[in-house]
Amino acid sequence: MATVDQEQPQAHAPLHVAIVMDGNGRWAKRRGLPRSLGHRAGVESLKRTVAAAPDLNVRWLTVFGFSTENWSRPAAEVSELMALPKRYFESDLARLERDGVRVRVLGRREGLSADLVKMLDEAERRTAHNDKFFLQIAFNYGGQADIVEAARKFAAEVAAGRASPGDLDEAAFAAHLSTGAGPAPDLVIRPSGEQRLSNFLLWESAYSEFVFQDVLWPDYGAEHLEAAIDEFYKRERRYGGAVADDVLATG
Ligand code: IPE
Ligand code: MG
Repeated sequence: MATVDQEQPQAHAPLHVAIVMDGNGRWAKRRGLPRSLGHRAGVESLKRTVAAAPDLNVRWLTVFGFSTENWSRPAAEVSELMALPKRYFESDLARLERDGVRVRVLGRREGLSADLVKMLDEAERRTAHNDKFFLQIAFNYGGQADIVEAARKFAAEVAAGRASPGDLDEAAFAAHLSTGAGPAPDLVIRPSGEQRLSNFLLWESAYSEFVFQDVLWPDYGAEHLEAAIDEFYKRERRYGGAVADDVLATG
């Protein structure tokens, strides 16, 4: 089991950062604007954050764009949220493609309009050959639903005689999640002051560090990502193990 000296900061940059993009509505309200403008401003923050990540040695970025629970918002707001991927990809897909970014959209395609599904599939297809940076957008995503889906897939393999229950271990199960064989997030960030995971990457965040920041997502940018990563460096990750000195002290 790896042990880490308590005095020593994290040696490695967080390879995979996940962000719950939150606070769009409050940002708009403070300005006397409709919530839709908060969501649009949030797309600009996403652009800034994606641009800043590689310089901070981040290679995987997963953002929570729309949760399975967000369907309960007023219809007009849901339509605005549904329009955000189009807004983002229309302005940025060509650049992402050129910059070597591979885009993956996590979550259920069922329930989304045919046009939107086409656009999400196109973003994945056009960037499928890239491997410099990985951008995962969780859209119509719920962590519990994703776990249930993985369980269903494995059960179907058993029913079809291609697997037996004993084949399932943590790694095999994780491979059935929509995050597949990708790395787990080292750092999960939630801006806007809320301190909840809200059904984001439930399985994958088992050993993640959490950083909560008092900034609303539409104001988010490179300096906030850098501050969250600075905080990550100060944390000590033990993965259930012990710090060497404590082990010696207690025998
Ligand atoms: C995040 O901002 C966008 C989504 C959850 C889709 P919110 O809309 O949740 O903003 P607040 O929490 O009301 O400020
Ligand atoms: Mg919110």
